[in-house]
Amino acid sequence: MSVTVIVGSQWGDEGKGKIVDILSERFDIVARYQGGANAGHTIEIGEKQFILHLIPAGILREDVVCVIGNGVVIDPKALLEEIEFLESHNIDFTGRLFISHNAHLIMPYHKLLDSINESGNNKIGTTGRGIGPCYIDKYARKGIRIADLLEKDILEKKIRKNLEEKNNLLKKVYNVEELDVEEILKEYLDFDERIDKYITDTAAFLNSQIDSGKTVLMEGAQGTLLDVDHGTYPYVTSSNPTAGGAAVGTGIPPTKINSVIGIVKAYTTRVGLGPFPTEMKDEEGENLRKQGAEYGATTGRPRRCGWYDAFLVNYSRMINGIERAAITKLDVLSYLDEIKVCVGYEFNGKRLKYFPTSKSVLEQVKPVYEILPGWKTDISGVRTFDELPKEAKDYLSFISEKSGFEISIISVGPKRSQIIEL
Ligand code: GDP
Ligand code: IMO
Ligand code: MG
Repeated sequence: MSVTVIVGSQWGDEGKGKIVDILSERFDIVARYQGGANAGHTIEIGEKQFILHLIPAGILREDVVCVIGNGVVIDPKALLEEIEFLESHNIDFTGRLFISHNAHLIMPYHKLLDSINESGNNKIGTTGRGIGPCYIDKYARKGIRIADLLEKDILEKKIRKNLEEKNNLLKKVYNVEELDVEEILKEYLDFDERIDKYITDTAAFLNSQIDSGKTVLMEGAQGTLLDVDHGTYPYVTSSNPTAGGAAVGTGIPPTKINSVIGIVKAYTTRVGLGPFPTEMKDEEGENLRKQGAEYGATTGRPRRCGWYDAFLVNYSRMINGIERAAITKLDVLSYLDEIKVCVGYEFNGKRLKYFPTSKSVLEQVKPVYEILPGWKTDISGVRTFDELPKEAKDYLSFISEKSGFEISIISVGPKRSQIIEL
């Protein structure tokens, strides 16, 4: 398929990085379309582990061109650190990285405001990367964009103007120390030299590449239930990780998108606050966290763990138009005697027809479970569907039927080689 979107189907950390790395071998270009360094996409190749926050996972394949689209919010410091980290692993960027001139910059005041918001009464459990405050400025039409780095006069004017307002806010509303204008100016004026060469009109680039027959894989960050419109608001991120966001966040028109692949973890996790109907508490949850090594790739926070929620993923299928799914971390469930799958919710004694995104409803629903037998065998070395134990095959066909998609990939470990393709 010439343009394919990869989308997280739950609350993020489904294993998008690993699947993008595998699929990118078959694509010419990989493009990120939203989010920022709140993402943490892990790829394991041999003994090496790469955690990417801003640069698309395709960068690890030397023939693949990578694009950071207009919908992404970029912390230049985090970007340069990532470039340096990859260069230290001999990754060559020449002619392979393009950054949209329209992408917005994360400024030091965005990170500060993120942490101030998190210390108040409206805590979300953010990653602290300044994502929300940066998107606020974008939509308030006060943002500073990457292209502004190229025009020093304009950049200086915008930084001075924004800092006047933010420093007022910091001092008078939040009662914290103001930020040093000259220091920030110097830091941001310097970024120009090092980021300049990557900046371009990526919408024009992508469209011309597609017209000349090149293929594009769009790498979503976060997940459907963290979408600011379709997720569990207000416990969401501030962008649109859903497939619709891919068009807006790159400038590739919806008519050119051919396929959407959902990345689906074989159970459920979430980092940060917010409702989670199938969450496993206490020891049960801790066991799953341990088996799945469920600690945040960006913040190191322990992830909350729970049973697979087919009702939730079916909602995700609907919102994204997922036809095919990659099921990840199936190997992690091998320790269980029995595995529960949530097939619906009861609310006030009645079965809900549609997935509710309302916080108060989600906090009150009672998940309806079906119980399936476990397979109790290590499957991390399995490479064909036929070799899987019968119980694992039954589990897969049950979740695929209840969630409404076909399974095209099954991942049985973090490494590139640990994959079953159907
Ligand atoms: P992403 O944000 O969606 O890219 O996912 P993360 O990288 O944050 O989290 C997924 C974690 O699971 C990473 O540590 C991966 O190395 C690991 N992982 C991915 N696929 C599998 C799998 O099939 N089995 C196991 N055991 N680990 C996996
Ligand atoms: P990847 O791409 C999991 C969560 C945060 C918090 C909420 C808002 O690795 O799947 P933010 O910093 O975005 O304002 O935080 O969203 N969150 C993620 N959870 N995976 C991610 O990215 C996430 N990015 C943000 O934990 O609950
Ligand atoms: Mg992650």
